[in-house]
Amino acid sequence: MRLTDCYNFHDFRRMAKRRLPGPIFDYIDGAADDEVTYRRNSAAFEACDLVPDVLRGVAEVDMSVTVMGQKLAMPVYCSPTALQRLFHHQGERAVAAAAGKYGTMFGVSSLGTISLEEARQISAGPQVYQFYFHKDRGLNHEMMARAKNAGVQAMMLTVDSITGGNRERDKRTGFAIPFKLNLAGMMQFAIKPSWAIDWMTHEAFRLPQLENHVKMDGGALSISRYFTEMLDPSMSWNDVADMVQAWGGQFCLKGIMSVEDAKRAVEIGCTSIVLSNHGGRQLDGSRSAFDQLAEIVDAVGDRIDVMMDGGVQRGTHVLKALSLGAKAVGLGRYYLFPLAAAGRPGVERALETMRTEIERDMKLMGCTSVDQLTRRNLRFRS
Ligand code: LAC
Repeated sequence: MRLTDCYNFHDFRRMAKRRLPGPIFDYIDGAADDEVTYRRNSAAFEACDLVPDVLRGVAEVDMSVTVMGQKLAMPVYCSPTALQRLFHHQGERAVAAAAGKYGTMFGVSSLGTISLEEARQISAGPQVYQFYFHKDRGLNHEMMARAKNAGVQAMMLTVDSITGGNRERDKRTGFAIPFKLNLAGMMQFAIKPSWAIDWMTHEAFRLPQLENHVKMDGGALSISRYFTEMLDPSMSWNDVADMVQAWGGQFCLKGIMSVEDAKRAVEIGCTSIVLSNHGGRQLDGSRSAFDQLAEIVDAVGDRIDVMMDGGVQRGTHVLKALSLGAKAVGLGRYYLFPLAAAGRPGVERALETMRTEIERDMKLMGCTSVDQLTRRNLRFRS
């Protein structure tokens, strides 16, 4: 299977699955408990239909949006995701470069595998820094200072991961960093030599955002342990209000789902929120961001930028979210599988595919700019 055979999310996913050792594929692909929320995230988009207008003169389409004070050439961005060099040696470098090429925003994670400073040098596009609230307050402050010095445009605090989600696929394989696999997990690596060669012939794996604070040699760090042992479950609205003040710029909370919380985000001075259930990886059975979007937009959409992520696989999914009032839509697995499949050319092909779909779909909807997408063009099936 070649990159040129990939036309959509499912093709990229299949190609990634062929290349990646099973435990790594399952880390990306997997979600919490019974993965109900993960499946619902994509299915939610099918609960409503687009109602196109025609004969609107759509020769030129402007799909740009402005979110968190940043102009994006298209209404999708690459959400921050962890451990990217584990999926392909280019990791965040490929994602930053591809996002820059397509004029959109990308995120670097606290669990990123290149430094936020290096990422800032790669892309001319806006960069968000995703961070978690650690028990180690020194680490929290250092992260904000580093992001400020590097010229990162926006902070994005993830608030849905106060403890680790129950990711049973990772339990079965023993997925952890550095690898501490069980026998079955090791077999999965042995049968994927191209990944193994890539892994062994490139620079050692690092977590540059954390390495001054975490001893990586003392046993394996599973994602679940990271969440549970290093993050501070006592984090409260007051703590976050202090961080928003300290940052003094664009500040986003990722993982807001209730109207109550969206209002509090406005009150403490956040400039945006991302409705998200973390790709179904945290609280299974939680509502999909798309299902919850209208309620949140109605409550706070005139005071704060509302974004969403989760399950977005098609240009039409993006159009539906924008029609309900989202300012921009985050992609996660949508670019991670292409990264794993083929590195930078993979991510670029994925973003090109999405860009082309959005442009075509806007024309078919009779829209020449994103603000023309409204609820008038959307019907929910009863
Ligand atoms: C995850 C975290 C690290 O979902 O964002 O695995």
